Amino acid sequence: MKSTLNLPPILLILAILGLWHCQPEKQPEKGLKDYYQAYFPMGVAVSPYSLDDSATVKLILSQFSSLTAENAMKMGPIHPHQDTFRWEPADKIVAFAEQHGLKLRGHTLCWHSQAPDWMFVEGDSQRVSKDTLLARLENHIAAVAGRYSGKIYAWDVVNEAISDAPDEFYRNSIWYEVCGEEYIAKAFEYARKYDPAAKLIYNDYNVFDSAKCEKIYQMVKSMREKGVPIDGVGLQGHWSVYGPSEDQLRRTLDRLSGLGVELQITELDISIYQKEGTRREKRDTDIDVFTPELGQRQIDTYDMIFRVFRDYKDAITSVTFWNISDKHSWLDNFPVRGRKDYPLLFDQDHQPKKAYNAVVNF
Ligand code: XIL
Repeated sequence: MKSTLNLPPILLILAILGLWHCQPEKQPEKGLKDYYQAYFPMGVAVSPYSLDDSATVKLILSQFSSLTAENAMKMGPIHPHQDTFRWEPADKIVAFAEQHGLKLRGHTLCWHSQAPDWMFVEGDSQRVSKDTLLARLENHIAAVAGRYSGKIYAWDVVNEAISDAPDEFYRNSIWYEVCGEEYIAKAFEYARKYDPAAKLIYNDYNVFDSAKCEKIYQMVKSMREKGVPIDGVGLQGHWSVYGPSEDQLRRTLDRLSGLGVELQITELDISIYQKEGTRREKRDTDIDVFTPELGQRQIDTYDMIFRVFRDYKDAITSVTFWNISDKHSWLDNFPVRGRKDYPLLFDQDHQPKKAYNAVVNF
């Protein structure tokens, strides 16, 4: 009997290749989305450019099951002039999500920041009237929510409408100045009208501040009693290794889950710095080194918050990280331009950090 070794070398190589090809595919590595499958979708905020980079795409697809457009669906970027929409960047993210079977969150239909100037002026640069502004808001939501209707499971309809000041209820934004609180209810009504299937979320930061949490609670409660279609509260989750504490976080989730609405963690990152509310210049004393001590604090913080999130899995219906890895975070430039931060679960080479293990080992 002839042995295979008597085959001409080329046939031998082909035989080996054939055998190798028949081996079962290597199991893909488990990612965040798999560890948390029984809990909530795990999402990430992306730019359209990040989807051009193959290493980034690989990381996204192996780890996450939901996407948010970091900027592309905001009022200014998507609707820069009254008669101009810039759809391509958002369309690209939507198409990517559809192609890969990822869920999509929409962010955001009404915000004072990154809103286009044209929206607030009328005639000879006079302040827009309330009627005109509400009509523009409806047109905007009709166009944007309408275009992606049925493709988005949750929209951040109104972003950051509550004041941080203890003696002030609503933020004194241009929306509030022109319309009073009415713009909030209207935005939710328009969103329901143009994308009836999406969960409609009120989204804000510093929600663990008990005074702010209480204002959000009261606003959502009274609006829902009046029939305003608010389905949930988004906690942005721009937190730090210095807080919130477990106690603060649990009290916040207890209070808000008492509303009987969905809770979503919409923009999670854990900064290595103390939180500061306003922009400032970089100082000589700003040392942007990710020390082992800060690393350990971050591991402990991620461990704690995900333990709490799991405890509240009946209320929490999604968790989204704000950016993909420490290679780039919006916190590299906020609140201090050029001060590097390290707030995510993947390092600057896209490798899982120790904090990642703390999140998935439970
Ligand atoms: C940030 C983006 O990450 C930055 O790229 C942009 O320059 C400013 O906005 N709260 C929000 C998000 O709701 O939309 C913000 O995103 C971060 C704070």
